[in-house]
Amino acid sequence: MTVDMISKPHERLAELLAGEMEAVNGLIRTRMASDHAPRIPEVTQHLVEAGGKRLRPMLTLAAAHLFGYAGDHHVRLAATVEFIHTATLLHDDVVDESDKRRGRPTANLLWDNKSSVLVGDYLFSRSFQLMVETGSLRVLDILANASATIAEGEVLQMTAATDLRTDESVYLQVVRGKTAALFSAATEVGGVIAGASEEQVKALFDYGDSLGIAFQIADDLLDYQGDSKATGKNVGDDFRERKLTLPVIKAVAQATPEERTFWERTIEKGRQQDGDLDHALRLMEKYATLEETRKDALGWVKKAKAALDLLPDHEIRSLLHDLADYVVSRLN
Ligand code: IPE
Ligand code: IPE
Ligand code: MG
Ligand code: MG
Repeated sequence: MTVDMISKPHERLAELLAGEMEAVNGLIRTRMASDHAPRIPEVTQHLVEAGGKRLRPMLTLAAAHLFGYAGDHHVRLAATVEFIHTATLLHDDVVDESDKRRGRPTANLLWDNKSSVLVGDYLFSRSFQLMVETGSLRVLDILANASATIAEGEVLQMTAATDLRTDESVYLQVVRGKTAALFSAATEVGGVIAGASEEQVKALFDYGDSLGIAFQIADDLLDYQGDSKATGKNVGDDFRERKLTLPVIKAVAQATPEERTFWERTIEKGRQQDGDLDHALRLMEKYATLEETRKDALGWVKKAKAALDLLPDHEIRSLLHDLADYVVSRLN
């Protein structure tokens, strides 16, 4: 099969970067093991073998390729980024009390919260060992900052998500932190290791930042509109978890006093009953908030694509362009 015959941009990117992605996956497999604590490979294998789209490591490889990188540190950095991602997923499923991830039962369900938290910590530490091997303090700075920002985003969400005063600017801050920070770090370090100019590194950051925001907004939409088979997660989880995401924030902002009482009961107080998810969906339909949210996501896609203009004209650049469309088109 040639690259052109595969329609989804992340699959085309995966095909183009297949050899290096194989090296990334090999590195992930060796470094996720532990000879001393068998629980570690049990948990990591469960999650890693379930797949995942491997979007973030592909972004790192792609960014390095844009600048003709010929070394092998980009493979280490791509694995680092996927380790950070996997660690945050283990922690996130504990915090969100999720029972499904990548189409499988979550580690917190199959084992327990303690295993997820501790194995997540192990993966974070492994990610730091890997990035140190590049010898680049600049790269360490970017990835250490991203890790702190992700944790900040998750903690901010924890306190803001059930508070009806949370507005779109707080939502953006959460999303930038918990999701976009790793996308932008992934693209940035790829450019840095390949010797891109400051202006280009900034453009890579901007692309990753906007792509990550669009991606998370789309993910939040899929939580209400998605097909559980395709997403590998349950529909309506955010509502049940009492998580204020953009479609609900927009409905709350326009709520009548009676509707506000509904949101207070279900989100703030968490006293949910049968039929509440359907009622929430009707309110979102009344104010067309899913459609408005989709428009916001498309705005970030546009920004991501604009950032690419500053990067070298290259086959990979057009794939990154299509990838930006794809993160939101998976909603169609
Ligand atoms: C899941 O990310 C976490 C979010 C930021 C929504 P992905 O959807 O990229 O997860 P995998 O790695 O493909 O499972
Ligand atoms: C994803 O947060 C961001 C991180 C894992 C840090 P969510 O909680 O919104 O994502 P899903 O729905 O569990 O993948
Ligand atoms: Mg979650
Ligand atoms: Mg979460």
